[in-house]
Amino acid sequence: LNSHYVKLTSSTNDLAKELAKEGVKDGTVVLAEEQSAGKGRLGRAWQSPGRSGLYFSVILKPEVSPMEVTQITMMASVAVAKTLERAFGVPARVKWPNDIYIQGRKVCGILAEMAAEADKVRFIVLGIGINVNQSIEDLGMLEQTATSLRAQVGYIVSRAELLKTLLEEMDYLYIKWQQEGFDPIKKMWKDLALWIGHTVTVSGLQKTWAGEMVDIDEYGALVIGFADGTRQTFYSGDVSLR
Ligand code: BTN
Repeated sequence: LNSHYVKLTSSTNDLAKELAKEGVKDGTVVLAEEQSAGKGRLGRAWQSPGRSGLYFSVILKPEVSPMEVTQITMMASVAVAKTLERAFGVPARVKWPNDIYIQGRKVCGILAEMAAEADKVRFIVLGIGINVNQSIEDLGMLEQTATSLRAQVGYIVSRAELLKTLLEEMDYLYIKWQQEGFDPIKKMWKDLALWIGHTVTVSGLQKTWAGEMVDIDEYGALVIGFADGTRQTFYSGDVSLR
């Protein structure tokens, strides 16, 4: 494994993108103790204080089209949820598109970014942020919606060991995905998913839709069924339980 560790960076995703442009190996990991400008989906910030969280990005260079990138982020969510369940016995669930929740609160977020030309992906940067050892006080205002592994299990967790176990699981699932395609990953994701069969709202930038969360499609997009029997596929947005 090729890895880069930095004490402080703005965002491991940005650093990983620079390294990827210089040309590094598939599977290179960029890890930071602290981020001064951690990024989330939809232009949000990701709180990244030193000592408590795990912030890293994995550079991947699969032979895929841009449409297939969501499959890889879902593979990563499955890896995180499975690792948290197996190693800590917590009921981790995935929330579309790629958040990990425990007991109704967010513990991990994933931000995938890619560089593509024509219809070919040059590289993917898979950024993963996990709240590990934040105390409830550290979570502050976020406490209503976020949690940490420590808040769930009641002890300080080794971030190094968590990272090691998680990378092993990701490695296993990445190879499985390359060999068998998205189907097995999709099945695992659905088994871990929140709210399938429930009425949810999907918020886009301008509009909010309400309907039943029916499925995810072969690209990982969200399929919502409406009361009038029609269906719509969503490629981005925020889902909440209605
Ligand atoms: C989200 O929930 O919206 C995604 C959060 C992703 C956070 C991780 S931390 C490591 C990597 N570097 C970043 O700047 N963001 C991701």
